Amino acid sequence: MITQSEITRLLELARKASQNAYAPYSKYAVGAAVMDEQDRIFTGCNIENASYGLTICAERTAIFNARCNGAVRFKAIAVYTPKPPLPVPCGACLQVMAEGGNRPVVIVGCHEEQERIFAFEDLLPKAFSL
Ligand code: THU
Repeated sequence: MITQSEITRLLELARKASQNAYAPYSKYAVGAAVMDEQDRIFTGCNIENASYGLTICAERTAIFNARCNGAVRFKAIAVYTPKPPLPVPCGACLQVMAEGGNRPVVIVGCHEEQERIFAFEDLLPKAFSL
């Protein structure tokens, strides 16, 4: 269960994280904030590279930041960009989120649009697992 005040808080932290995005190529800044089962929050932003394929999305930097700090069970992740389109997570990020059986609620927000909330299974119904 995720409350409206938690949604608001996560989106605000994702918005702040988007200010640290390094996106000189796409000009599409993204921030993410993931909440674990103890309500701890970890943030990330997209980081691009002159060798384009090395770019990493905000969702993955947030999840990796969380894991580096000992968080492993995630209940929600918010993703924010200042300008449209809404940053619905890519397949690679969804697969990373799903590791270990996690199925976080996904909240996406954008300065100019109403936020949207997705059940994880609607975005990635059949995550790969070994
Ligand atoms: N990106 C994210 O960080 N998250 C998303 O949900 C969509 C895409 C980044 C990757 C790249 O730096 C830029 O947005 C354009 O694709």
